[in-house]
Amino acid sequence: MKPLLPIGRISHPELPSSPEKPAGLIFGENWKELRRQALITLKDHGMGKSGIEDKIVEETEYLLQRLSSLQGVQDSQAFKLTMSGAVSNVINQTIFGRRLDYNNPNLEGIQQFEGFITAAARSMVLPLYQYWPWDPLNLKQLRKYFETAQNFFKSEIEQHKKSLDVNEPRDYIDSFLAEGIKTGNSVFQNEEDLQSSISQLYLAGHDTSSTTLTWALLFLINYPKSQDIIYEEIQKTVGSRSVSWKDREEMHYTQGFIHEVLRCGGIAGNTLPHKCTADTVIGGHIIPEGSVVFGNLYSTFHDESVFPDSYSFKPERYLNDEGKFVKPTGKQMLPFSIGKRGCLGEGLARTEIFMFLVSIVQHFQAKSVGDNKAAEEGVDIFTHSPKPFKFTLASRE
Ligand code: HEM
Repeated sequence: MKPLLPIGRISHPELPSSPEKPAGLIFGENWKELRRQALITLKDHGMGKSGIEDKIVEETEYLLQRLSSLQGVQDSQAFKLTMSGAVSNVINQTIFGRRLDYNNPNLEGIQQFEGFITAAARSMVLPLYQYWPWDPLNLKQLRKYFETAQNFFKSEIEQHKKSLDVNEPRDYIDSFLAEGIKTGNSVFQNEEDLQSSISQLYLAGHDTSSTTLTWALLFLINYPKSQDIIYEEIQKTVGSRSVSWKDREEMHYTQGFIHEVLRCGGIAGNTLPHKCTADTVIGGHIIPEGSVVFGNLYSTFHDESVFPDSYSFKPERYLNDEGKFVKPTGKQMLPFSIGKRGCLGEGLARTEIFMFLVSIVQHFQAKSVGDNKAAEEGVDIFTHSPKPFKFTLASRE
């Protein structure tokens, strides 16, 4: 079957791959092999003994402690930063085999990494930005974060090389290096590709997931009845133990809520840039080889024939007459895009969003401040993000 979207990618001068020699699993020439290997690693759930669920449960302990310290009226930015630490640590466990403390400067470097990319992308649209003496995009500071992240990735690769056992890969870096040694495949002997792939896994997986969870908080405080129903489902299905991915099968409303968050939050309104690999005709228009095209995912979120009253938040729209969750099919709703270049981390993202969200509602009641609902229209930063809002978290214990 032909891919729905062209499978090529363009390069970006400021991304961790140069335009002359693009690298890594998103922008590199060897994306097919790099993607396959990364998918296997993610499927193996971080290699080693514990699966991704165990890693999320472990991280949840730290997350809940951190959230407990958010006393009184809080800003959504504080929540997003905390979620971003938790989400980064799930990726850290998969890539490096260990988590980083929320106060670790390397974690801050990683968290701010896409701030640099966003600023760099803006400076590409308005190139004069980078020459202005007053640095309106804060590029100098952001570049420092970028360098911290890159140096950290480099030193991790070096350390992994020293302690590698090709028969017992502990994480993504080990499995990459082991594949190069075992198969002799030069793709997996190229450390530039390895470092770029690590950067790109963060770039693609970190802000997207933490922004989704910040949207989830916004809809929890704006729709307290929804929050109550989710809490009832938690009491019935999970009780006081740790949540598992399987629990979702009994939690129909919660699944509807998450789908509605993905749809109404519209975190990625477009795909990443795709490049036509051959002359193509679409709807009578010729799209020449080499053209850059984007998939419009937003259009799938607001197709009134599928989602009537599409700008209203209604988790129950996914429930059938028996109250069971019915997943939107095929191309009805595409928050993770589709085809050969669709989101590589969809499974991981869905798991962590479900498990983190359920754990938060299990332990805290989130509320808006006074009668003020948070604004539901977002702003486009790296992803489509909620405007800053205030909230409180009250412990349920
Ligand atoms: C809610 C969270 C997420 C959303 C909404 C999301 C959405 C997307 C979208 C729309 C694309 C573009 C696909 C295209 O261009 O056609 C994409 C690509 C990608 N995503 Fe995600 N993503 C999320 C989380 C993650 C996570 C957790 C990871 C892995 C750690 C990840 C890894 C990737 C990669 C590697 C690509 C590029 C695939 C390629 O070029 O072949 N994403 N994602």
